[in-house]
Amino acid sequence: AEYDLLIINGLVVSAEDVREVDIAIKGDKIAAVTARGRLDNTSAARTIDAEGAYVTPGGVDAHVHLQEPPLFGKGSSADTFETGSRSAVCGGTTTIIVFAPQQKSEDTLLATLEATHAKANGKCYSDYSFHLLVANPSDNALAEFPALRKAGISSLKIYMTYAALQLNDGQILDVLLAARQHGITTMIHAENNDLILWMTKQLEKRKMFQPKYHATSHPVMAEIEATYRAICLSEFIDAPILLVHISSPAAAKIIKQAQDRGLPIHAETCPQYLFLTKHDLDKPGFEGAKCVCSPPPRESEVDHEGIWQGLEDGTFTVLSSDHCPFLYDDNRTGKKSCIDEEYPEGHFKYIPNGCPGVETRLSLTMSAGRLKMAKFVEVTSTNAAKLYGLYPRKGAFVPNESDADLVIWYPEGKLEPFALKNEMLHHNVDYTPYESKILKQWPRYTVLRGKVMWDRDNGGLIGKAGDVMAQYLQAMSMRDLARTLAKPTHGSPTNPNESGTPASRLIVITP
Ligand code: URP
Ligand code: ZN
Ligand code: ZN
Ligand code: ZN
Repeated sequence: AEYDLLIINGLVVSAEDVREVDIAIKGDKIAAVTARGRLDNTSAARTIDAEGAYVTPGGVDAHVHLQEPPLFGKGSSADTFETGSRSAVCGGTTTIIVFAPQQKSEDTLLATLEATHAKANGKCYSDYSFHLLVANPSDNALAEFPALRKAGISSLKIYMTYAALQLNDGQILDVLLAARQHGITTMIHAENNDLILWMTKQLEKRKMFQPKYHATSHPVMAEIEATYRAICLSEFIDAPILLVHISSPAAAKIIKQAQDRGLPIHAETCPQYLFLTKHDLDKPGFEGAKCVCSPPPRESEVDHEGIWQGLEDGTFTVLSSDHCPFLYDDNRTGKKSCIDEEYPEGHFKYIPNGCPGVETRLSLTMSAGRLKMAKFVEVTSTNAAKLYGLYPRKGAFVPNESDADLVIWYPEGKLEPFALKNEMLHHNVDYTPYESKILKQWPRYTVLRGKVMWDRDNGGLIGKAGDVMAQYLQAMSMRDLARTLAKPTHGSPTNPNESGTPASRLIVITP
């Protein structure tokens, strides 16, 4: 056969537009994107009829925590690379960018990278790449930046909060300078740690320990102050940054003002800030712990609206999951991990922060029907690929260049809206914060480099971990990622390798 797989009758979505075209796949690459019907007489090993449904590039989730050590209190990551990447492909995400976590006690990042490779190698269902998580920017660690760059790392994350990970402002400046010199993008978790600790003390004095006080202890002002400080430090060094998991319209506004001044400030938000509020932390018993993350879900739908607007106007470059998996019931003790003699009802400060969401990110967002389809693709796939050096291999349908990673959705009227249940998911977590939420869409098929990994109506997960498919992706060697990000992109970062390329090249009509 001439091709291995044809996808016909789809509405093919890119970050630019939606077109009625057919897709031909050869091996693991997109071979052709052609006008409707042109492939009708072509031979192919398999043809999938999309029946008029949307076909999108596979999701790129740029914020995933797997197999990390305990952050504080009890509980380390419940998902391994195997279960986390499995969950990803079942939800339409074909590339995950996972943190390689350095500990404060460690003086090297290269060893961290090597150890993380060992955890992932041969275990994954999806393609994967890494961000280095820098907890100890020692002279030795900073001197490793060129070697990290050679090893395909173009991004790192630092924290302004959490005792185990927090950097002071001087350390942040050290990281930003070294990152700028080597074309690395710095992702920043921006919350004011002292403000959080002070609020926690006030709550403890009043014996307010329930999960809902996690939100009280992480006020919007902690995010506002740290976001503004991060922008100042970035502007001072003239280094690009990406503010991760922004939760509040107020912080988004500060980011937009910086962007409007032409600064290379990018931002990320997550489904928890579009679909959860602080009231989800206020449930009977300890249930609210299932929605505890930092920053916390905010006040109301008014905040959600502000975050949607930030996605629409380009303030947010990416919509990632911040998948951070913890078990609700502790296997070892049979008790919730934060309940002990001292706090028989539990204490919010010992709840491990983070929600699972790598599998639900795309469906929640699609089901909301709020974003235009091209915008959906831009923020859930294309922009992450561009920012982190994977474009156009990922996040696009460029013939002969893009991997054949795609999602075929359900055509209108084919899927009855259904209530999400945790047992439908493929992570290793015993809950989803979105239990019982009504969804209107779910990936019908997920294709990873030409191979159907997920076929919801015929076997579900049919791909395997560790077969020839899943690969480590090196961030492409860009001459100067920092300079690229400094362009006034407003949500559409460009890869220097692609600059000057007309958009029309994304769809090539072949005879
Ligand atoms: O609560 C969260 N976000 N947990 C994951 C760790 C982080 O800060 O991204
Ligand atoms: Zn964070
Ligand atoms: Zn995170
Ligand atoms: Zn921008």
